[in-house]
Amino acid sequence: MKFEKHIICIGAGYVGGPTMAMIAYKCPRYKVTVVDTNHERIARWNSDELPIYEPGLDEIIAATRGKNLFFSTDIERGIKEAKIIFVSVNTPTKTFGTGSGMAPDLQFWEKTARQIRDNAESDKIIVEKSTFPVRTAFAMERILSATKTGVHFDIVSNPEFLAEGTAIADLETPDRVLVGSHETPGGLRARDEMVEIFLNWVPREKILTTNIWSSELSKLVANAFLAQRISSINSFTELCEKTEADITEVARAVGLDHRIGGTYLNAGIGFGGSCFKKDILSLVYLCRHYGLDEVADYWEGVVKINEYQKERFVLGILNAMFDTLAGKRICLFGFAFKANTGDTRESPAIYITKRLCEERAELVITDPRALQNAEKDLEDIKGTVIYKNDPYDAAVSCDAVAVLTEWSLYRELDYKKIYRVMNKPAFIFDGRNILNHEKLFAIGFNVYPVGKPPMKHF
Ligand code: UDX
Ligand code: ADP
Repeated sequence: MKFEKHIICIGAGYVGGPTMAMIAYKCPRYKVTVVDTNHERIARWNSDELPIYEPGLDEIIAATRGKNLFFSTDIERGIKEAKIIFVSVNTPTKTFGTGSGMAPDLQFWEKTARQIRDNAESDKIIVEKSTFPVRTAFAMERILSATKTGVHFDIVSNPEFLAEGTAIADLETPDRVLVGSHETPGGLRARDEMVEIFLNWVPREKILTTNIWSSELSKLVANAFLAQRISSINSFTELCEKTEADITEVARAVGLDHRIGGTYLNAGIGFGGSCFKKDILSLVYLCRHYGLDEVADYWEGVVKINEYQKERFVLGILNAMFDTLAGKRICLFGFAFKANTGDTRESPAIYITKRLCEERAELVITDPRALQNAEKDLEDIKGTVIYKNDPYDAAVSCDAVAVLTEWSLYRELDYKKIYRVMNKPAFIFDGRNILNHEKLFAIGFNVYPVGKPPMKHF
């Protein structure tokens, strides 16, 4: 079959995999190839056990793989063949040198830019899909044009707004698709070509075109706003606990104001995930670079409250359990950074587990999808944590259960059965406010939600 367009995506991760699967699914006339340096990852994309868990993804892969969607490690061939190259490599926070702990580590995209330049034999459109600092396109252009090959590159920014766990729905019916380009004839042609792809399933009015810097910045700003809402609501949980106000009632009362809106107001143990913290720190670093210290301080506060919230949860457990956790067995319900994913990157559970270990608690972790990743995250405290698939099993002989991920299955468990097998007094710390607290209290548990008065039997 002769395909209308050839697209590749460099980076077969949480963004590249699902995004390209959706393009392939909606555009059967395009050939889409996803490439990665990680052989194991590509082998899993080509197997029945995909490297990431995402509801609905299996079906889309089954409908497209081998027809117009391909996964490969042959990056050079992919670059030669495709006209449109999405770059979806990781940009984690730097762990060394200048900007360590703040700035994004750009080594992966830089290598990619060089690889594209060295292998391209015809004109290409390069699409920034990963979240990059503003003006990354400028640096990329410098690299791409550093050797004169006669090949022309146009760069566009097309940030991805999907959230894990709802990626397929987010990709299928996005709130908006953003395409940023230069206002040059080549830039505008590249922009139109991108718009053409999305028009296969996204209404025109939802496709927003801007200048390239606005597009790069908008992604960082969107994540900063969402994270800021979570930190804002979390910042009031302590005040609620001290004043007998209830954060769920407050969030509802506030969120019903249509100017504020009700989403991203679920209080809890703090946000996790690969984006929020990294992107805010990247924004803070950028602001400081431009001498905007007040702006940087403001946004850094969002991350600080988030760190505080995690520590506060640990101290809450310690205080409630008579100021000592040594030798006590605590069962963690959930390790993923949110429900419906196996992803544990920046999960609050990582910090909370390590802190509880420092207090010499014995830990049992259960999660329907994230145990493999949890074991990797907790490699440095290997041997001190027990992993169990079954939550009932996990709770046996525990002094406390702490809910760290809002998996709906935890709402539906038989807590009478769980109470029976636990040590007494039995505690429940509901870090996501998802359980029926009155019912648990009536069973005999001492119940500690977030941002609500505790319910205790002593
Ligand atoms: C986020 C953005 O939503 C997405 O647009 C962007 O592309 C990537 O970053 P993601 O990290 O996958 O997506 O998940 P999200 O649903 O936004 O949740 C992030 C974290 O915030 C999770 O730990 C979640 O539990 C937490 N959260 C979310 C809350 O604590 N309260 C809320 O009300 C909402
Ligand atoms: P995200 O959540 O942004 O998708 P991931 O870490 O899940 O991030 O995925 C990024 C992918 O990019 C990884 O699979 C990694 O192996 C891949 N990658 C990084 N650098 C390169 C490169 N130079 N060439 C090809 N793939 C790369």
